[in-house]
Amino acid sequence: MSALILGIETSCDETAAAVVENGTRVLSNVIDSQISIHRIYGGVVPEVAGRRHIEKIDSVTACALESAGITLSDLAAVAVTAGPGLVGALLTGLSFAKALAYAIDKPLIGTHHIESHICANFLDNPGFSPPFVALVASGGHTHLVHVKDYTEYVTLGATRDDAAGEAFDKAARALGLPYPGGVEIDKLSRVGNPDAISFPRALSGDGLDFSFSGLKSAVLNHINKAKMRGETLNAADIAASFTKAVVSVLCEKSIRAIELTGTKRFALAGGVAANSALRAALAQCCLDIGVEFCVPPPIFCTDNAAMVAARAFHDYKQGLKHTMSLNAFPSLAIGERF
Ligand code: KG4
Ligand code: ZN
Repeated sequence: MSALILGIETSCDETAAAVVENGTRVLSNVIDSQISIHRIYGGVVPEVAGRRHIEKIDSVTACALESAGITLSDLAAVAVTAGPGLVGALLTGLSFAKALAYAIDKPLIGTHHIESHICANFLDNPGFSPPFVALVASGGHTHLVHVKDYTEYVTLGATRDDAAGEAFDKAARALGLPYPGGVEIDKLSRVGNPDAISFPRALSGDGLDFSFSGLKSAVLNHINKAKMRGETLNAADIAASFTKAVVSVLCEKSIRAIELTGTKRFALAGGVAANSALRAALAQCCLDIGVEFCVPPPIFCTDNAAMVAARAFHDYKQGLKHTMSLNAFPSLAIGERF
């Protein structure tokens, strides 16, 4: 069986469409990023994001089909992110996908955004398969997930406040770096001293949940105190020390989840998985304890639609699909059926 699935993703500030064969072979991956639009506001403005998705979704989808060298009649199904995400942004992709699936009389499959991030690990990588433990760190989520099978996801731990990506973005803002701050901190960290400042590691040694709001406040306090004393700030040292604190907590909890589940495979996913220090640290941790490590290339870590098609393929195989009454879900638990 060969199934070509069109994925559509509009949960935040990327309008994306992609064609993927059998949940792994990427035929096209088109992403229209809104970063330059939201940058002037210092973060994503939901209403602006939704309007931009409306302007772009048609041409982005046409481009994905054309780059894949296929037409609508070649598709097996249309997949779309149903949640979690910004409701206005989600509704744009969802309405478009519903109309398209209805018009071509193909199944509509709604997917969970975080489960899709995890499935980015299968893209162009058919050798990697469940069961495994995944760490998903994005702008809105930080979760440790036990992926028991392609359609069975169990949350082991999650952030109690800010997401890891949110902490990166807020720390970057405090340093006067542009949105989205994660990639800017990543670049700056490479020339800084990670041991210059000792930032807190919240909930260290305690369960599988995370907390990043204290770390964010510690960075703000450090910067404000230095300014009040008239000291010159070393932004690279702050970025590197902040990154070290985030990476050390993410690694510690990931190792604990690996030990508790006894898994032999570990996957990293989500926008923060593009971070060079985190990728290197988790690869080393897994090597040290003899666990297989998988992380998608950075383009499949941040929001994209290939991961949506990758996730949907496994529902498609089981004959699962949604009706035209499928709604958008701004919050949606991992593993929850909708
Ligand atoms: O998964 P994603 O594209 O969107 C959400 O679902 O939220 O993640 C975006 C987040 C942002 O917070 C961004 O700053 C962060 O991922 N990010 C990074 C890097 N690239 C993106 N964080 C750290 N280092 C990076 N290289
Ligand atoms: Zn995402």
